[in-house]
Amino acid sequence: MASPYPDGDREKVASKLPSALRQELKVRAAELGINIQDAVTTGITDWQADDSPLAPIDTSGAESFSPWLPPGLYESFKATCTTRGVSYTQGLAQSVRRWLDANPAAGAQPLARIPERKVVCNQKGGVGKTAVAAGVAQAYAEAGKRVLLVDYDPQGHLSEQLGIEPIPPGLDSLVAHMCAEGKADLRDLLVVIEGERFGGRLHVLPACFDGFLLDAKIATNIRIRRREITLEQALEPLEDDFDVIVIDCPPSLGIAMDAAIYYGRRRKNERPKKSGVLIPVLAEDSSATAYVMLADQIESLAEDVDIDVDYLGLVVNLYDGRRGYVATSSLEQWQQIGDPPVLAIISDLKEQREAVRKRRALLDYAPQSDQAEAMRKIAGTAKAAS
Ligand SMILES: Nc1ncnc2c1ncn2[C@@H]1O[C@H](COP(=O)(O)OP(=O)(O)OP(=O)(O)O)[C@@H](O)[C@H]1O
Ligand SMILES: [Mg+2]
Repeated sequence: MASPYPDGDREKVASKLPSALRQELKVRAAELGINIQDAVTTGITDWQADDSPLAPIDTSGAESFSPWLPPGLYESFKATCTTRGVSYTQGLAQSVRRWLDANPAAGAQPLARIPERKVVCNQKGGVGKTAVAAGVAQAYAEAGKRVLLVDYDPQGHLSEQLGIEPIPPGLDSLVAHMCAEGKADLRDLLVVIEGERFGGRLHVLPACFDGFLLDAKIATNIRIRRREITLEQALEPLEDDFDVIVIDCPPSLGIAMDAAIYYGRRRKNERPKKSGVLIPVLAEDSSATAYVMLADQIESLAEDVDIDVDYLGLVVNLYDGRRGYVATSSLEQWQQIGDPPVLAIISDLKEQREAVRKRRALLDYAPQSDQAEAMRKIAGTAKAAS
């Protein structure tokens, strides 16, 4: 439904918004001296441009709300809602929330810039943690973000696959910094991954073989009072330099994993689902059992230390529907979970194996491959790259 705006260049659309959100919008726009219609227009435009998942907003009891928008914006907004599988009311509520978060009240403390932290984890081995961690990190760097990719697995697969030597025992490393034994600045250890697409924005913190002893070192170090904060303490000095930090976790569920989960928790003033755990899984029963154990560990840590940990999503990796009922029914089970959503279903793709063999970053080696596209989809940067 459209009718002309007084100045003729906008159309009125019939929509709905929860009354509390509407009130907040009204007050904030007045405080900042911004026209409500402009605020809604900006909110919708930004929401459309950023397809990283947002926490659903309770829209029960939403009331009639009819903003004036530039011609065509509501049509494209509705198409985006359909693509994302959200109602128009939910889409508008998220757009308005986004604008409110981006435009704090005058006089309010500006929100500290928090890098997004993606913890790629699953204690089950060989499910694609390293492939996904490396791939999404590359996708973010390609999309213009400054990225730190942390090889948190003492096996050092990530480092090796990118042609980087893991750090020998006894030298300065992430593990040393986590155990309060750091000798120099961690930045000195970062390695920049070459590649035109990454523009010098993709950095790797290499693995160190000392990591095999990390749990024991943390457990026996009397100077460490809170084990779960060790990773955060080590990485915190680097955070200002990065927009996104991706952690490639080892296939284990020990103290080091607690520290990684804690690092991915939702921080104060951080929007939901910006940081959290990203879980590659396989379409088979043992993977489902492993997921239950991982979720148990996340929930019990969250309860013990009173944190919120967002699940960013699942990646069903190495999927082969030709394997029959076990594969197809397992896939259905992953999809039925709903939250976390299945962000991508990836088959066994040769480019992934070739890139590893050649010690090249996948998005540099095969930027047009299905595997590269899947990584952009998981990162939510697919549009930016096209
Ligand atoms: N979609 C894919 N297609 C083809 N090969 C893949 C795919 N995903 C992962 N691989 C390959 O499978 C192997 C295991 O994957 P990866 O190392 O990423 O798993 P992981 O979960 O990190 O293992 P670990 O638990 O040992 O750390 C690697 O050689 C990787 O390159
Ligand atoms: Mg790995």
